[in-house]
This record gives sequence, C-alpha cells and structure tokens, in this order.
Amino acid sequence: MINNGFVFKKPLRYNVFLKNGLLIFFFFITSFSFGQTAEAEAHFAVCKACHTIGSGKLVGPDLQGVTERRDEAWLIKFIQNSTAVIQSGDPVAVKVFEENNRIPMPPNNLTDDQIRNLLLYIKNGGKLGGAESATEKAAADTVVQTAAETMLVAEKKQKDAQNRYLVFIVLSVVIGISLFDMLISRIIKARWIHTIIILIAVTVIGEIVFIESAALGRQQYYQPEQPIWFSHKVHAGQNEIDCKYCHFTVDESLHAGIPPVNVCMNCHRLVKQGKQTGTKEIEKIYLALEQNKPIEWIKVHNLPDHVYFNHAQHVKVGKVDCRDCHGEVEKMDEIIQVEDLSMGWCIECHRSREIQFASNKFYEQYTRLHEEISSGKASRVTVQMIGGDECQKCHY
Ligand code: HEC
Ligand code: HEC
Ligand code: HEC
Ligand code: HEC
Ligand code: HEC
Ligand code: HEC
Repeated sequence: MINNGFVFKKPLRYNVFLKNGLLIFFFFITSFSFGQTAEAEAHFAVCKACHTIGSGKLVGPDLQGVTERRDEAWLIKFIQNSTAVIQSGDPVAVKVFEENNRIPMPPNNLTDDQIRNLLLYIKNGGKLGGAESATEKAAADTVVQTAAETMLVAEKKQKDAQNRYLVFIVLSVVIGISLFDMLISRIIKARWIHTIIILIAVTVIGEIVFIESAALGRQQYYQPEQPIWFSHKVHAGQNEIDCKYCHFTVDESLHAGIPPVNVCMNCHRLVKQGKQTGTKEIEKIYLALEQNKPIEWIKVHNLPDHVYFNHAQHVKVGKVDCRDCHGEVEKMDEIIQVEDLSMGWCIECHRSREIQFASNKFYEQYTRLHEEISSGKASRVTVQMIGGDECQKCHY
C-alpha cells in the first residue's frame, strides 16, 4: 500500500541549527505540541503524494481550508476509509469523489487523535509554526547553496580536464613541428633548441597521460540519459518520498537496488500525468508492465569488480547519509555521479570518520580500543582504527 513506505525526511543542516538554535529553543518552551506536530508532519508525508496545502490540486483536492469546509467527525471517517463513507451514500463524499474523477483515496491506518493533529497541521497551512518555518527557509537556502557549490566544483573539474586535453593537442603539434624542423626544414640551426623543446613537451604530456590514466575507468560527473525521464527532484525532493521507499534493500544488502516497476505502480496507478512531461514518460511505465519487461535503467555508479562495497554496512551500521556519497540527489532531475569513487576517496573518509563505537554491540570484541577509550588514551575511534584501511576489507 502506498501509505506504508513513507518516512518524513527533511534536510537538516547543523550550522543552520546553531544559527537558529535560540529560535528553536524558544519554540520548544512555548509549544507543548511540538512532538505531536512533528508527528503530524511525518504523517502528512504520505498525503503529499496526492495533496497540497494551498498549492493547488494534485491527484486529490487542495486541502487548504478543508477544516472549515467539512466537520471534524466527517473528516476523520473519510481519511480513515473514504471508500466506506462514499459507499454509505454520504452526499458530500459522493460529490467529492465525482469531482475528482472517481479516483479512490487509499485508506489510512491512523487513530482519531492522530488525524486531529494532522488536521491542525493542515489548518496551520502545513507549518510547524513561525520559528520552524524560518529555520526551514534557512535550511532550504543552505541546500541550494551547497548544490550550487557542487555544480561549481563539477564545472571546474570538467574545465580542467578540457584544458589538459587542449594542452595535450598543442604540445603534440609542437613536438611534430620541432621534429620536422630538426630533420627536414632546418630553419633553426642549433639542434639543442629542438631537443629542449621536445624534452619539455614530452614531460608535460607524460604528466597529463599519468593523470588521465589514473582516472581511467572512473566516471566522475557521469550522467547518462535514462530510458524514462525519472526525476529525483520531483520524487525525493518536491514530493519528499523517502529514499528507502524505493531503494528498499539499502539497509540489508550490498546493493541499494533500483525499484521494480510495481513500486512505481503503487502511485502511478493513480498519478497518470507529470507537470513537466505530461503523460509521455509515465506511459512508459505502463508499457513496461504490459510487456512484462523490466525498465532498463543505466547504472550510474560503478566500482571495479575487485572492490567490495556494502551499502548496509555504511547506511545501517555506519549511519552514513546517502548525500555524503551521492550528493544532493533530491535536487537532481537526472542523477549525476558527484564523487570520483577512487580508493583515495574511500580511505580519506575512513581516516577521519568516527564510528558509533560505544553504542554498537558489534564492536564489543575490540577490547583494546575500549580500554584505550576508557583510560583516556584515545578520544575517538575512526573507521581506520577498526581496520578500514586494510587491503582485504575492500578487495576480493
Ligand atoms: C493516492 C492519492 C491520495 C493520497 C495518498 C491521499 N489522498 Fe486524500 N484524496 C484523494 C482523492 C482522489 C480525493 C478526492 C476524494 C475521492 O476521490 O475519493 C481525496 C480527498 C481527501 C479529502 C476530502 C477533501 C474535501 O475537499 O472534502 C481529505 C480531507 C483528504 N483527502 C485527506 C487526506 C489525508 C489527510 C491524506 C494522508 C493521510 C490523504 N488524503 C492521502 C487522494 C489521496
Ligand atoms: C559510503 C558511501 C555511500 C553511501 C553512504 C551510500 N552509497 Fe549508494 N553507492 C555507493 C557506491 C560506491 C556505489 C557503487 C556500487 C557498485 O558499483 O558496486 C553506490 C551505488 C548506489 C546505487 C546503484 C545500485 C547499487 O546498489 O549498486 C544506488 C541506487 C544507491 N547507491 C543508492 C543509495 C542510497 C539510497 C543511499 C542512502 C540510503 C546510499 N546509496 C548511500 C556509495 C554510497
Ligand atoms: C510514492 C509515490 C510515487 C512513486 C512510488 C513513484 N512516483 Fe513518479 N510521481 C509521483 C508524483 C506525486 C508525481 C508528480 C506528478 C506531478 O507532476 O504533479 C510523479 C511524477 C512522475 C513522472 C513525471 C514527472 C514530470 O514532472 O513530468 C514520471 C516520469 C514518474 N513519476 C516516473 C516514476 C517511475 C519510473 C517510478 C518508479 C521507479 C515512479 N515514478 C514512482 C509519485 C510517485
Ligand atoms: C520513487 C522512487 C525513488 C525514490 C524515492 C528515490 N529513488 Fe533513487 N532511483 C530510483 C530509480 C528508478 C533510479 C534509476 C534511474 C536513475 O538513475 O535516475 C534511481 C537511481 C538512483 C541512484 C543512481 C544509481 C546508479 O545507477 O548508480 C542513486 C545514487 C539514487 N537513486 C539515490 C537516491 C537517494 C539518495 C534518494 C533519496 C534522497 C533516492 N534515490 C530516492 C528511484 C527512486
Ligand atoms: C563518507 C564516509 C565513507 C566513505 C566515502 C566510504 N566509507 Fe566505508 N565506512 C564508513 C564508515 C563510517 C564505516 C564504519 C561502519 C561501521 O560502523 O562498521 C565504513 C566501513 C567500511 C568497511 C568495513 C570496515 C571494517 O573494518 O569492518 C568497508 C569494507 C568499507 N567501508 C568499504 C568502503 C569502500 C570500498 C568505499 C569506497 C568505494 C568506502 N568504504 C567509502 C564510511 C565511509
Ligand atoms: C576503503 C577501501 C579500500 C581499501 C582499504 C583499499 N582499497 Fe584499493 N581500491 C579501492 C577502490 C574503491 C579502488 C578502485 C577505485 C579506482 O578506480 O581508483 C581500488 C583500487 C585498487 C587498485 C587498482 C588501481 C586501479 O587504478 O585500478 C589496486 C592495485 C589497489 N586498490 C590496491 C590496494 C592495496 C594494496 C590496499 C592495501 C594497502 C588497498 N588497495 C586498500 C578501495 C580500497
């Protein structure tokens, strides 16, 4: 069912937290309902796939003002099980159903109180209150900023590579001309001049070849065109669908996995049109289902076969955020690989990243490290200290 996979996820930035810490503190002591409101916000994540509050109709009606339009008891019944209310012949329910092209709203397993909270949240226009919305805005700004920064770095690296290519070509031509003059045209008589020019050119070209061949097989900034224009910005960003709703093996397996067609159908049975591509792209989902063929997504991130990488180890055990390795996916229409996935990149993080050492039972076997921590000899345990830079951990 659609309602289950959703978990509310919002970009949290610690510097923003610090900046707005006072505001939040003030908010905490003035608002007793904070916990409940946050819960409502989490519940609303499910509704968001089909409803907005004040931004117009999606699959279902805009919910702005719905608490004035209808009475509470009706809303509770309808949200819990709309089909039952419609089938009971309730005139209001039947009318709403007809106005919305007879698309049924899925039932929700929420208690009366949870719905009352949810309605309060809707009544407030989907906000947790003034203080929070300021934080949210600041958080959004930071995210936009860092996304722009990522793009700048990406552009710079691409430019560097282009420059190297240009230098390579120019120097090759210079070597050619020098050789030609030395052996045939002889305009410059002194041969040592040719020799020096050629030596310098060969050295620089050698360096370029070295840099480029080290990066061979790596595909930083790889961004292939996919068979369906699937946008993470629309799904994980605007509609705030949790990454794990689709990449549901990421907690248990080596692989995050790509969702099969029937996961898309959970929503696209109802959502038949996109704002940007109309029916063109979504129809390809139905076609794949009809022909019983999987969609042939192109894999963006690729490690060589001799490397062992485990998602569950990083995401579940290590609590590493997706965006530390994949960048701000929720801002991307098309996925781009932002890191180079080099050995240096893995090791750099393992050297600096602390692990949840004390709280993880798995690490009880590391008695020496525990003694060092309790005697004050070590203040933190990095991945490296538990063997995160041993060759055989990452290589088959
Ligand atoms: C899959 C899409 C979908 C989801 C998810 C969904 N709804 Fe709906 N909702 C609809 C549709 C469609 C209607 C119009 C009534 C109908 O056709 O049954 C509707 C109607 C409503 C109405 C009545 C609006 C009115 O003007 O009377 C309320 C209230 C409502 N939804 C609340 C919620 C809440 C709260 C959630 C989340 C817990 C939610 N909906 C989740 C599709 C959805
Ligand atoms: C520590 C870094 C790291 C973290 C954290 C991480 N990934 Fe990955 N991800 C990778 C690497 C490296 C690959 C390439 C794996 C390969 O080729 O075997 C990859 C591949 C993928 C793929 C392609 C399919 C696959 O499983 O190979 C998906 C989808 C994916 N990641 C999603 C996620 C999601 C969602 C999260 C967060 C829940 C996440 N990743 C967290 C590093 C990471
Ligand atoms: C949890 C619900 C959900 C799931 C699962 C889901 N989508 Fe969507 N999808 C949506 C919503 C909501 C929209 C936005 C419709 C709109 O533009 O208003 C959307 C839009 C789209 C669009 C059109 C985007 C545009 O702006 O034109 C495409 C294409 C699409 N989805 C493909 C997929 C594919 C492929 C899958 C499976 C891998 C999938 N979706 C899974 C909810 C979902
Ligand atoms: C509605 C389903 C859906 C959601 C939600 C979703 N993804 Fe994806 N993801 C896909 C599909 C389908 C692909 C394959 C197409 C593509 O690469 O764009 C994919 C591809 C990826 C890839 C590239 C895998 C590769 O080929 O190397 C990464 C990384 C990724 N997702 C991370 C995330 C992260 C992080 C989130 C949460 C912020 C997330 N995804 C949320 C469906 C989803
Ligand atoms: C953003 C930080 C980060 C990056 C990048 C990263 N890792 Fe890790 N890695 C971790 C953390 C944190 C752990 C510890 C998880 C735990 O608590 O067991 C870990 C653990 C591991 C382990 C288990 C180590 C052990 O001693 O049990 C392996 C193997 C591993 N990573 C492989 C890789 C590979 C291969 C890459 C590069 C493709 C990579 N990691 C990139 C953070 C990272
Ligand atoms: C944290 C994980 C990790 C550890 C530890 C690690 N490697 Fe690697 N290694 C990788 C990754 C990822 C790649 C492939 C990335 C690339 O293209 O550079 C790689 C590539 C290599 C390559 C192939 C180079 C190439 O250009 O393809 C060799 C050889 C290698 N490693 C040797 C070692 C040795 C020896 C050690 C122990 C001293 C070691 N590795 C430890 C992750 C690791």
